[in-house]
Amino acid sequence: MIPTAHIEVKEQEIIAKTVLMPGDPLRAKFIADTFLENVEKFNNVRNIFGYTGTYKGRRISVMASGMGMPSIGIYSYELFKFYGVENIIRIGSCGAYTADLNLYDVILASEAWSESTYAKVQGGYDKDVIAASSKLNDKLEKIANDLGIKIHKERIHSSDVFYRENFEEYKDIYKNHGCTVVEMEAFALFHNAKVLGKNAACLLTVSDNLVTHELTTSEERQKSFTNMMKIALELAE
Ligand code: HPA
Repeated sequence: MIPTAHIEVKEQEIIAKTVLMPGDPLRAKFIADTFLENVEKFNNVRNIFGYTGTYKGRRISVMASGMGMPSIGIYSYELFKFYGVENIIRIGSCGAYTADLNLYDVILASEAWSESTYAKVQGGYDKDVIAASSKLNDKLEKIANDLGIKIHKERIHSSDVFYRENFEEYKDIYKNHGCTVVEMEAFALFHNAKVLGKNAACLLTVSDNLVTHELTTSEERQKSFTNMMKIALELAE
């Protein structure tokens, strides 16, 4: 069954058991260039770059997911189902729904709430909350603690829409569903892990605050996301 429609790898072994997934292909490249040794690039299809390398001597892969649930839905499904990948950790940015969260705070998703139909259409799952892997979350919490990096464990909102006509609706989602931040991929990733018997987690860095309207620049983001990446990279095996 390999190579698949969206990943041009002929041997499973080229991809590590644990894959970090930023949304942006250039962030995948940045992580490989900055943190990994013995790097091998394994994917170029649609410029969704994927790399395998070593971190402190242990293997790990990093591959972009693209933006949104349809996109991460495709890539994570192929990695889990056809390439023997066991763990995918999304590393991304999020908007905060509460003034209590500051720019650059690191969030660990306990679970994702979504109004998306992804899980229902993909596998008949008709609830709107899916948990992250507790096994991965326990490891990530311990790593963050050992590194002295504070993380906030939160229920997150996975949204299909970045630009809502009624911007203020985020307040209802915060109030009615308890989501404190918004991103656009985790719910589909967690669903795929669940139906395929694999593990998924999601670490996010706050890049904007919907209450205070604070924003980061893309240059600031690149630098400040280092904390989140260092936590995730420690999962290399
Ligand atoms: N909305 C959705 N996804 C995001 C946001 C946002 O405000 N910020 C970063 N990712």
